[in-house]
Amino acid sequence: MTSENTQPPQSGPIGVFDSGYGGLTILRDIMRRMPGYDYVYLGDNARAPYGTRSFELVYRFTLQAVRYLFSRGCPLVILACNTASAKALRNIQQRDLPGIDPSRRVLGVIRPTAEAVGRISATGHVGILGTQGTVASGSYDIEVAKLHPGFSTYTHACPMWVPLVEYGEATGPGADYFVKKDVDALLAMSPGIDTVILGCTHYPMLIDKIRRYVPAGINVVSQGRIVADSLADYLRRHPEMEARLTRGGTVSYLTTENADKFSATASAFMDGAVRAHTITL
Ligand code: DGL
Repeated sequence: MTSENTQPPQSGPIGVFDSGYGGLTILRDIMRRMPGYDYVYLGDNARAPYGTRSFELVYRFTLQAVRYLFSRGCPLVILACNTASAKALRNIQQRDLPGIDPSRRVLGVIRPTAEAVGRISATGHVGILGTQGTVASGSYDIEVAKLHPGFSTYTHACPMWVPLVEYGEATGPGADYFVKKDVDALLAMSPGIDTVILGCTHYPMLIDKIRRYVPAGINVVSQGRIVADSLADYLRRHPEMEARLTRGGTVSYLTTENADKFSATASAFMDGAVRAHTITL
């Protein structure tokens, strides 16, 4: 290829994607860790939850979102969603990205979380709570076994937790019933569990209730800081990507559902007021 044909690599914001509100728990920690960059958050609230959907649908929806964020100029997109990371990331990285633009990157949240488990668990018995899709994919079992041979993983799906968050019931009394039921079911799988991974980015929005039902002495691990540290490390190791990220300190919030509803929910969770816009994928 001659130099005249070579497009300069595009610069732009970091894209953060989730099926709905959950990825905000990742975005908040990334922005605290790396405040100077520009960010675009996209929540596919109109089609959440993804956790009960087929592999094919999660892949198709996630690819649409990634393409959309690329069209907004993002050189780098974080799938801040375990279900999408489990069901779509590999295909997108290996099958789609080379044809779309091999210089862009899409990263997930499962691998950095599985890496962190080795630093957190002393017993090597690790419980993971996630969506049905994430649990059925076996992604955590596979990644933890690869990185920490000898560790045992116990996974349990919590199909009601994402709807509780998406429908604004996370702090209501009804949530207690489902949180206790699923925490008890996970911990009953092994008395040795000393670490519970919240393997769905929506779950930190239920953190007060989760802590209420997980006995003291068991670590409850949210992914936000783990993913933020891992991203900072990635950018240190990939200065060519870091140089393409713009640094205006801005953040745009996009949703496929009602913008006012998204703004109200996100403002209660993020550090500043949020004004979202509705887009169509
Ligand atoms: N936040 C997504 C995850 O981490 C939730 C998936 C869903 O929409 O069910 O898995």
